[in-house]
Amino acid sequence: MSSKTYNPCDLVIYGALGDLSRRKLLTCLYRLELSNFIEPETCIIGIDRMELDSPGFIEIAHKSLQEFLNTELDEAVWKRFSSRLSYLQIDLTQMDQYSKLQDFVDHSKRVMVNYFAVSPVLFKNICQGLDQSGVLSSTSRMVMEKPIGHDLKSSREINDEVAKVFKEDQVFRIDHYLGKETVLNLLALRFANSIFTTNWDHNTIDHVQITVAEEVGIEGRWEYFDHTGQLRDMLQNHLLQILTFVAMEPPATLEAQSIHSEKIKVLKALRPITAKNVKEKTVRGQYTAGYMKGKPVPGYLEEEGANTKSITESFVALRVDIDNWRWAGVPFYLRTGKRMNGKRTEIVINFKRLPHNIFRDSYRELPPNKLIIHLQPNEGVEIQVLNKIPGIDENIKLQKTKLDLSFSETFKNSRIFGGYEKLVLEAMRGNPTLFLSREEIEQAWTWIDSIQNAWTHLLESPISYPAGTWGPIASDSLLAQDGRAWEG
Ligand code: BG6
Repeated sequence: MSSKTYNPCDLVIYGALGDLSRRKLLTCLYRLELSNFIEPETCIIGIDRMELDSPGFIEIAHKSLQEFLNTELDEAVWKRFSSRLSYLQIDLTQMDQYSKLQDFVDHSKRVMVNYFAVSPVLFKNICQGLDQSGVLSSTSRMVMEKPIGHDLKSSREINDEVAKVFKEDQVFRIDHYLGKETVLNLLALRFANSIFTTNWDHNTIDHVQITVAEEVGIEGRWEYFDHTGQLRDMLQNHLLQILTFVAMEPPATLEAQSIHSEKIKVLKALRPITAKNVKEKTVRGQYTAGYMKGKPVPGYLEEEGANTKSITESFVALRVDIDNWRWAGVPFYLRTGKRMNGKRTEIVINFKRLPHNIFRDSYRELPPNKLIIHLQPNEGVEIQVLNKIPGIDENIKLQKTKLDLSFSETFKNSRIFGGYEKLVLEAMRGNPTLFLSREEIEQAWTWIDSIQNAWTHLLESPISYPAGTWGPIASDSLLAQDGRAWEG
């Protein structure tokens, strides 16, 4: 094994023939197999409604890997991987069918990990079916991922149903951003380097920017997306998670409870955005037809299956204030959108200007230092500093330079694993640190609901932006009104 050992699992995937399973889970499990991270005794049981046997499922898995992996399959690895796979036909709405699982799982040898890769409308059925069939044990776990609800109320309903069958420490709620190497690196950067631990508050930081820009549009998901919008699809989870990692106090340990409780404190300190201030603190956008990498692409309202009157946002920018001691007076600006001018996820920590400028004869103002954390693509960390340009001129000449740490250059011999690989492995290991607690999710929804309600109350259409740009001009004005500008 490549890492510390853990119990073998019966990994049961509900919705094994669905998109999430074929595109993400099977590929990530195969990659874990390739790197020898899967415990030899582990079994993977695919469950779906379609009439199929295990060889048929193995064939579908093979095709999915060929389609979604960017590399050739290694025959020896595939042989090992496929020998773990079996298939069980269950209609998830039929309670009496769950007992079939009895023949597949063995609690005396393996931990049962139930991965709910289906729409949340089926979660209640699965929980009841598993409970009634008596197939679970006290060591069983369940893994689910967003959307965990659509608002606080629906999120509570899902969590309540799950809680009837699984205790909180058996529940693993995934946000795939928490598996990303660079998000995890935030813990190392902040809490393993005194240079940052001592310079991480309102005394030294002017403001923080978090950008999650996507190139993709709606990609055949119009119905889901139109009901959801970018605020709920991306900001409620991924961006708020990044924000909590940047803003939280040092946890006492790396244990789940310490980290969860620090993150919850940040979420509780977010200043509410309500009908009163929503106009000055938020920008909603929707893309129109434009060009991506020189090719024409349709607007949001022209996508396949679109309701041409939709006022759902595909872009959102916010000014967030955190009402606590550390961050008093330090705004966090968040933006995320589809069909933007490039895939770019980054955090920019903008430090304060110096109190006094000794180079003022040549430079009226010195640009402040920045720490830029590139989450994807091109993972890395960059610090912008001013440096003297070598030379013997009478006046010192300064130039903005970068201290640049590119992960691919620095860690040439290490593979950067994807978020899913890390999280699926952690769920199999039973380590809850990188998963979301119920309280965290509900706290995030409480804050997001207030924004969503304020928008609903306003009933305004989002501002248009052409596909292939950085969003509506109003997003620039959001920062300009505070005398600031987006990075890059
Ligand atoms: C998902 C959203 O959670 O994250 C998608 O539902 C989005 O709409 C995706 O495209 C982005 O993930 P990543 O890892 O490509 O940044």
